Amino acid sequence: MCGIVGYVGRNPAAPILIDSLKKLEYRGYDSAGITVLNSSLTTYKNAGMIADLESILPGEIKGNIGIGHTRWATHGQPNTTNAHPHLSGDIAVVHNGIIENYLELKEKLIQAGYDFKSETDTEVIVHLLHWHLYGEVSSESKKCDILTAFRMTLKELEGSYAIAAVCRNEPGLLVVARKDSPLVLGLGNGEIFAASDVTAFLKHTKSVMFVDDMEIALVRNEGAEFFGIDGTPITKHSTTIEWDIEAAEKAGYQHYMLKEIHEQATSVHDTFSGKVSEMEGSVNLDELNLSNEQIQHLTRIEIIACGTSWNAGLLGKYLFEQLAGIHTDVDTGSEFRYGYPVMCGEVLTIAITQSGETADTLAAVRGAKSYGCRAMAITNVVGSTITRETDSVLYTRAGPEIGVAATKTFTAQMITLYLLALRFGRARGGVNVDDAKNLIIALKRIPGQIQMILNKKDLIQECALQFADSNDYFFIGRHLNYPVALEGALKLKEISYIHAEGYAAGELKHGPLALINDGTPIVAIATKGHTYDKMLSNIKEVKARGAVVIAVADEDDTEIEKYADVVLRIPPSHELLSPILSSVVLQLLAYYTALARGCPVDKPRNLAKSVTVE
Ligand code: M6R
Repeated sequence: MCGIVGYVGRNPAAPILIDSLKKLEYRGYDSAGITVLNSSLTTYKNAGMIADLESILPGEIKGNIGIGHTRWATHGQPNTTNAHPHLSGDIAVVHNGIIENYLELKEKLIQAGYDFKSETDTEVIVHLLHWHLYGEVSSESKKCDILTAFRMTLKELEGSYAIAAVCRNEPGLLVVARKDSPLVLGLGNGEIFAASDVTAFLKHTKSVMFVDDMEIALVRNEGAEFFGIDGTPITKHSTTIEWDIEAAEKAGYQHYMLKEIHEQATSVHDTFSGKVSEMEGSVNLDELNLSNEQIQHLTRIEIIACGTSWNAGLLGKYLFEQLAGIHTDVDTGSEFRYGYPVMCGEVLTIAITQSGETADTLAAVRGAKSYGCRAMAITNVVGSTITRETDSVLYTRAGPEIGVAATKTFTAQMITLYLLALRFGRARGGVNVDDAKNLIIALKRIPGQIQMILNKKDLIQECALQFADSNDYFFIGRHLNYPVALEGALKLKEISYIHAEGYAAGELKHGPLALINDGTPIVAIATKGHTYDKMLSNIKEVKARGAVVIAVADEDDTEIEKYADVVLRIPPSHELLSPILSSVVLQLLAYYTALARGCPVDKPRNLAKSVTVE
């Protein structure tokens, strides 16, 4: 999705803005632009990549304050005219989000004499701001101060926004505001950065201030003043980000995705570390603020998530039902928000979102809360919007994930769900202390077992090469391995552009078998567990129809070789935990397939890392 950046300080703004925009490239975009404020508003923008924008920049652009933008087209083509910043007189604006009432505002502004150059919704913001500041299109004398003009502008906007603006009449001032789109300030020494996320300025500072919904900040190099939309001053405190810049760089790997797959032994460990006691068979999740009694009284869990996070949520459903005996539903944010859910009893809503900014998930959680539910979040991003909209937060400690395809955040989400289900299971008597101890012992082995899989990744690459030219792929699994199958298919289609479908293996004969042909690759997640024999039957079923079976199976399983064409092995683990290991195998399979097909692994077409619009 779009990324916005801003800078005010003592250094030349242009190179800083460009560098910050490059750090946001992973969010996905199709055009880019910057405005530097000097004696005028020096603006450069271009369709295409940031490198294309750089190629049209002069050697030096004077000015120590500016704004920049990467655009992911929603309203209008990805061309230079529609690229941000947008200008009105002496004001320039960049915007992330969607202005829902832009047509109505546009009409009003056209009546007032404003000339629209682009097809974007954003252009109404800059003209509206100009109108509130100057009262008419050609005036240069202010009618009010910039804060008042900004407040009046925001009051008219419906939809979501993170906005940054500079005005030639306000030298040294950067104005930012947000509603439902991420925005954070980085506090440097005599300089301040603004961005959609911290990775944009992490190399300059780790000290940050999050802009909250319906807040405006007037930012100068010596500091930022915050105000509510009604003009009330707001006191803000800074927080320190724990990630460092190395965590957000490629560290010698060809792609972020490969690096992030390799980081999973560590990220999985970091996510459970300090939270489990093998001696006591207990899980400590104090941050939940839920007593044993409150956990015992829960009647239902409602999980809300999108994409990969939804797949983690489906695994969560199985775990909560099996370990804690709590009926659990899993809904996508986009469906839940427009449904008519029955939320009676003690319902706990769990939002799973690595970014903490997914628009549909946020809207669905707001909906759930309006029914009076308690809401908690599982997220990877400290200070993200979801953390401010829920009653409690469990952080996955995966570190920054830059590749669009979620990998280490997925396994960290699964680990967090294990911890939660185990905690609930202990509180509700679904898991006895010995079973809990055994699960925790098995959990502690997972990081080492992930490393074993990574050490043998060449075998997975060989398999990927063998089937890289396929047009269709199917992934099948049962029970806990069903979400693994869904995620395996999502990963493959997302980055390799091969049509891939995930199915509950028992569903094959209800339709998809018709699609199985000679040579169709079927990935069967057939790890040892209570559905293993059923999986063998499904494998035989597809083999009989000509499919080529790639099985993901335990290291010590000799039976599987009789049926599968290729076997990708995982170290034997507890049945409940094997989905984590199988997922790592499928991530590597997708990665190497995409690599073989020459796809842009980290930035797949049409996709964005953080989906901040509906
Ligand atoms: O940030 P979120 O976890 O809320 O994102 C949800 C989906 O957009 C995300 O998981 C998406 O499906 C991934 N690109 C998949 O790899």
